Amino acid sequence: MRNFSPSFRIWHWLNAIAMFGLLITVVLRESVMHKNNIGVIVQTKVAELGTVITDEQAVMIGKAVRSPMWDWHIYLGIAVAVLLLVRLAMVFKNGFGFDDNPQMQKVYRLYKAVYVLLAGMSISGLILYLKLAGGAKENIEMVHQYVGWGLFAFIAVHIIGVVLAEKTDQSGLVSRMINGK
Ligand code: HEM
Ligand code: HEM
Repeated sequence: MRNFSPSFRIWHWLNAIAMFGLLITVVLRESVMHKNNIGVIVQTKVAELGTVITDEQAVMIGKAVRSPMWDWHIYLGIAVAVLLLVRLAMVFKNGFGFDDNPQMQKVYRLYKAVYVLLAGMSISGLILYLKLAGGAKENIEMVHQYVGWGLFAFIAVHIIGVVLAEKTDQSGLVSRMINGK
């Protein structure tokens, strides 16, 4: 059975909170806080008040209304990038801390892949935020978007995997990730 050190447990839950937060920002951006949806509401309401605005102006206002919510994507994204550097330092110091349970080796490879994808997301996110992409902007946006959804899918698979492990051969796994015992 793996032992989870206090620093690793704190790291895991901070990372989990940041990733759930990122998911919420993306879902809001694509649903109730979509710039076009907000734009249509604003356009309709100001029309009722006797002012006509164009579709472009409506989308511009939609973007401005969305912006404070989207700032959280940047804060949480930067938090994930910093947490990743912390994890890298932990791995350099003490290794990954994986055990040699043969059934878990594939899962451990998946975790390593997740770390690589998180690094890719941090770098691509920062490039987009700092507007360093130049002509590659659309490609980087696409990679950031698809890999981002891939990571959200990982979270779902991860939680199902943890529940199954709890119910079969690793009972107490979640307790150990919470209180170390
Ligand atoms: C309620 C939600 C969650 C629960 C109950 C949970 C639980 C766990 C547990 C028990 C482990 C150890 C598993 C093992 O030894 O194989 C683990 C590892 C891990 N979790 Fe979570 N987790 C949750 C959410 C998340 C989220 C949102 C992320 C975001 C990416 C995440 C990323 C990871 C990673 C990368 C590892 C492997 C760490 C390592 O061993 O280096 N988890 N999680
Ligand atoms: C693991 C961490 C991250 C995940 C899972 C993630 C996920 C996503 C997803 C799914 C989108 C597409 C949203 C959409 O088009 O609806 C997106 C867009 C974006 N992300 Fe992240 N992101 C992460 C980290 C970051 C970081 C570190 C930054 C910058 C500091 C960042 C900045 C951006 C920006 C600027 C966009 C908008 C790109 C555009 O205009 O299409 N992200 N992110």
